Amino acid sequence: MDAAFRYPVEWIDRFQLPRGDWITLRPVLPQDDVQERDFVAHGLTPQSRYLRFLVGLSELPEALTQAFTHVDYHDHFALVAESFGAGLQTQVGDARFVRVGGAPEVAEFGIAVGDAWHGQGIGRRLLRTLVAAARAQGVKQLYGDVLRGNAPMLALARASGFRAQRHPDNAALVRVQSLLTTPVTPESIAACG
Ligand SMILES: CC(C)(COP(=O)(O)OP(=O)(O)OC[C@H]1O[C@@H](n2cnc3c(N)ncnc32)[C@H](O)[C@@H]1OP(=O)(O)O)[C@@H](O)C(=O)NCCC(=O)NCCS
Repeated sequence: MDAAFRYPVEWIDRFQLPRGDWITLRPVLPQDDVQERDFVAHGLTPQSRYLRFLVGLSELPEALTQAFTHVDYHDHFALVAESFGAGLQTQVGDARFVRVGGAPEVAEFGIAVGDAWHGQGIGRRLLRTLVAAARAQGVKQLYGDVLRGNAPMLALARASGFRAQRHPDNAALVRVQSLLTTPVTPESIAACG
């Protein structure tokens, strides 16, 4: 198997929310297609789906579901956050970056946390791990396009070291960007708690 397709176990993480639930973060797998689609269709409100995808959609189209779950962990890297309460495996978040064509050191990210799970630190942890994975894989510039009125995401980006700037061609959007210049390893992230 090509090294680029090795399952990157180093980004598996587990942490406890203040209210007690345990959350697992792990790189996505092809067999996550059903749970990924369920997360987008039922875990996110229409408003959150719009904030995440910038279009009105009620569910993830099949082609996008496949693209979201069959990733190479290099050009497209994705993490899912899961809860295992009451014997049930529930996807509660998703974060990914995709390298921008023609610029291997530049990648765009997207993130979403299920609405029932907002405000408990899952987004912060997902983004922190995503940034670390991007940095470790040679991404030098990580950006996301955020609707101007999306205060939670703009605050999360700011708190995670991203800088907001004018979007090059859409006044409704803000581009949040981070320059990843210092190499970070899973070990140094774990050391941060
Ligand atoms: C943006 C989003 C991912 C945040 O996830 P979350 O798990 O609720 O965020 P966290 O609990 O980890 O909060 C981390 C920080 O984000 C900011 N934040 C989160 N929710 C906020 C809110 N409602 N208002 C203001 N700031 C908020 C705060 O800075 C917070 O840090 P603090 O708790 O120390 O104040 C979530 O709201 C979401 O999925 N939104 C819909 C999809 C979306 O907008 N995606 C972005 C497109 S790229």
